[in-house]
Amino acid sequence: MERTGTRSRGEDVSFLAAEEKREFLSRLLARMAHEIRNPLSSLDIHVQLVEEDLLKLSQPVPSKVIGRFDVIRGELRRLDTIVEQFLRLASPSSLKLETVALSEIVTHVTELLKPEAEARKISFKTQISGSLPSIRADRAQLTQALLNVLINALQAVEKEGRIEVHARRLKSKWLEVAIQDSGPGIPIEKKGAIFEPYFSTKRDGSGIGLWIAQQIALAHGGDILVSDAPSGGAVFTFVLRIDDAEGADG
Ligand SMILES: Nc1ncnc2c1ncn2[C@@H]1O[C@H](COP(=O)(O)OP(=O)(O)OP(=O)(O)O)[C@@H](O)[C@H]1O
Ligand SMILES: [Mg+2]
Repeated sequence: MERTGTRSRGEDVSFLAAEEKREFLSRLLARMAHEIRNPLSSLDIHVQLVEEDLLKLSQPVPSKVIGRFDVIRGELRRLDTIVEQFLRLASPSSLKLETVALSEIVTHVTELLKPEAEARKISFKTQISGSLPSIRADRAQLTQALLNVLINALQAVEKEGRIEVHARRLKSKWLEVAIQDSGPGIPIEKKGAIFEPYFSTKRDGSGIGLWIAQQIALAHGGDILVSDAPSGGAVFTFVLRIDDAEGADG
C-alpha cells in the first residue's frame, strides 16, 4: 500500500504550540463538561417533578404528553453520556487500562457497522494479520476512536464502495490498524486541518470525531496518521504501542 505518510501534527508550524493548544482545550472541555452537568441534573430533577405533578392531576395524562416526556428524558440521558465522555477524555489519566485483545475490538466495531455498510452496498473487509499481541488500553475509548474513523469512512464512501480494515504488528513494539476507504480522499490542503476540533466539511458534522479519536490514540502513547490510498481514497492508521509484558491474543 503506497503511503504519502502525511502526519497530522507534523504539518503544524510549531509542534509545541499544537501541544499547548491541546492542553488548553482539554482543560476547557473539562470545565465546560462540569458546568453543563449542573444545570443538566437540575433539569433532570425538574422533569421528574413535573411528571409527578401531572400524575397528581385529576385528569389522565394524554399519551402525547407522555411521549414528549420520553423524548426529553432520552435526550437528557444522551447529553449526560456526552458530558461524561468529555470528562473522561479531558483527563488522559482517567484511562481505564486493561489488557485488551485488539483483534476483538476491531471485530466488534466492524460487526457494529456491518448492517449500515450492507444497506449502503459498501463492501467491508477486515484482515487481521497473524496473531496480534495484547495491549494495555482503555477498551471503551479505543472502541470509540475506531468507530469515529470507521463512521467517517462510511460517510466518505456514501454508497457502493469499499472499506478495508487491516490490523497487523509492525516491527518492534507497535501495532497498526489501517482503515482504507474508496471515498474521495482528503485534499492535501485539508490534511492539516482535519484533526483540529470543529473542522468539518459536512452539513451536520460537529467536527470533533477525529479530534477525539486522536486524543484517545495520544493518551495511549500512540497516534493516528492520515495518508492516501493508491485508489484515491483515504487511509487512517492507528499506531499503538505493545505493552512490555505482552501476550498473544490469537
Ligand atoms: N475517510 C474520510 N474521507 C474523506 N474525508 C474525511 C474522512 N474522514 C474525515 N474526513 C474529513 O475530516 C473532517 C473532520 O472529520 P471529523 O470526524 O472530525 O468530523 P465530522 O465527521 O465532520 O463530524 P463529527 O464530529 O460528527 O465526526 C470531515 O468533515 C471530512 O471533511
Ligand atoms: Mg466524523
